[in-house]
Parts: sequence; C-alpha cells; structure tokens
Amino acid sequence: MSILLTGGAGYIGSTVASILKDEGEEVIILDNLTRSKKEYLPNGIKFYEGDIDDISLLEKIYNEEKIDAIMHFAAFIEVGESVIEPYRYYENNFSKAIKFFNYFIEKGIKKIIFSSTAAVYGEPQYIPIDENHIKNPTNPYGMSKLFVERFLESVERSSDVYHVALRYFNASGAYHNFGENHKPETHLIPIILEVALGLRDKIFINGDDYDTVDGTCIRDYIHVYDIAKAHLLAYRYLSNNKQSLKVNLGSGEGYSILDIIESCRKVTGAEIPVEIRERRDGDPSTLIASSNTAEAVLGWRREYLTVDAIIESAWKYHKEKFESSK
Ligand code: UFG
Repeated sequence: MSILLTGGAGYIGSTVASILKDEGEEVIILDNLTRSKKEYLPNGIKFYEGDIDDISLLEKIYNEEKIDAIMHFAAFIEVGESVIEPYRYYENNFSKAIKFFNYFIEKGIKKIIFSSTAAVYGEPQYIPIDENHIKNPTNPYGMSKLFVERFLESVERSSDVYHVALRYFNASGAYHNFGENHKPETHLIPIILEVALGLRDKIFINGDDYDTVDGTCIRDYIHVYDIAKAHLLAYRYLSNNKQSLKVNLGSGEGYSILDIIESCRKVTGAEIPVEIRERRDGDPSTLIASSNTAEAVLGWRREYLTVDAIIESAWKYHKEKFESSK
C-alpha cells in the first residue's frame, strides 16, 4: 500500500517523501510543478504530473496504485501574496483541496494527513500557542487552511475518515539536497542567506514597530527534517487510532527577525546589511508553538534544537546551490 503525496516536489513535500522512502514506505507523488521543478523530486519515487483537481488524472492514479493514505502538501504558502490575491488562495488551497479529498474519500481512503499552518491562529491571545487556541487568521492563507481543517472535521462527523492536521510553524533549514528554494523567494532565512552570498544587497525588515522585544516579528523556526519525521509518526498514528488530531509543530522558542539576522551573521561570517521598510500586511506579531501534543501523542522529538543548527544546514545547502549554478 502506498502513500500519495501532493506537492511532493516542493520544499517540505520532497523532504517528507525522501524520509518516508528511507523508512521503507511506498510513496507516490502528484505535483503540477508550478512552484517547483522535476529535479527537486526525490529519486526513485513514482511521479504523476498534474493538478489536484484533475479528476481524470486522479482516476488514473487510483486505478494504477493501491493508496492507503494521503498527505496533502500542494498549496500556495505566502502570507503577503494571499492578502493581495485572496481568490487564488481560496481557490487553490480550499476549493481544489476539497475536490481532491472528496474524490479519494468517495473511493474509500480513510487516512489523511494535512499540511496546515500556524497562520490559522492569528494574533496570539497567549504564548506558547496550543492547539486549542482561538483560530482567527490575520490573512487569507491561514483562513484557506482553516477552512480545509473544518471540512475534514465535517467529513469525520459523518464517516470513518480520520485526519491529522499538522500545523507547521516556520519550516526552515535543509536536509541533504532538499532545501528552501521558492521562486520567487519571499521567506526570511533564504533571503538573508542570499544577501550573505552577495545575490542581494540587503535584507528588508518588514516593520520594526511591533509590540515585541525589539519591535520585529517573532517566529518559531523548526527544521524541515523534524517536520518531516512528524509525518511518518502521524501516518503510524492514523494506522493505529480511529481519531483525528490537530498537532502544532514548532520548537517552543521565538526568534525575532533581528535574532535571525544575527544568527545568520554568526553562521556565514557575512556582514548582512539591513533596511527597515513598512509592515507586511497580514503578519501576526508573534507565533510560538506549544508542541506538547506532538511529543505526548505522536512521540515526536526534535533533532535540530537550536536556530544556529537550522541556519547552518540552510547555509550549507545555499552555498552548494550557489557554487553549482556558477
Ligand atoms: N520578513 C522580512 N523580510 C523579508 C522576508 C520576511 O522582514 O524579506 C519577515 C516577515 O514579514 C515575517 C518574518 O520575516 O515577519 C517571517 O517571514 P516568512 O515569510 O519567512 O514566514 P511567515 O512567518 O510569513 O510564514 C511562514 C510560512 C507560512 C506559515 C508561517 C507559520 O510561509 O506558510 O510561516 O508561522 F504559515
């Protein structure tokens, strides 16, 4: 039996696919390659190219494969873009996703692992944020993911289809040759590392007037390998339990943008000039996870315990990518 991964050529999906394969699981990938490339696909994994709402393609996959579970990564992921283009986010992340899920639910698939996000919470009422924290997203990206969670809850009420929604905090770092490489890049750590490589002049900080220790936004950075391991645990959980779960994946530690720049300076030895610009619409000031559920229920343990270790792995990846592009 196989696990079908949508978005398996993306940053997190490809890392998960690679780890599942190493753990002896059968994996199939469905990806439309709009925001990734074929070369990012892990070796030796069967790949279908196309959209998640292409029913004839889903039909083909269903007829050719024996699917036991679905891990759904394929989505747009940028907070700022979602504020500017809400329709694309609701269409892609919600409408297409429920069509996709519905196809496989009607075919009898019972296990769903869904890539959700810390962005479902919005501005925190307390820190660290646990899974019961009120959900009040500050951007359409977070709302589109919350809608899918609600859909999966509704499905569970009327069937024996169970899900684990993994709410990622800030995925970062690199695992072997799987690293953060979005086009265009909007994420903090890869942009800072591009400055360190001389590919950009400086890092623009999106606002320094937030109600935080140094005025810049605070995030909880979690290594993509640790995120990937949680998917394997979630799959095993669903294989042994008839109950759905919401699970935060974070470190429990918050770092401001200035902290991250400082760590990048330390790791790379580069100066990294900065400039403050306006706030980015849709950004909550602080997101820090409580990952007690992941630890207690899934038995999850992080291997990358410091932000320096995360940035070191990302730096190695970016340096190698830069060298090989010369
Ligand atoms: N930032 C800058 N300058 C930049 C890029 C980012 O100041 O050039 C800031 C952002 O405004 C934000 C922080 O750095 O305050 C982190 O931004 P990212 O874009 O790296 O990440 P986000 O926190 O916006 O979002 C990421 C994922 C989401 C996920 C979220 C969970 O992209 O999918 O983490 O916390 F929901």
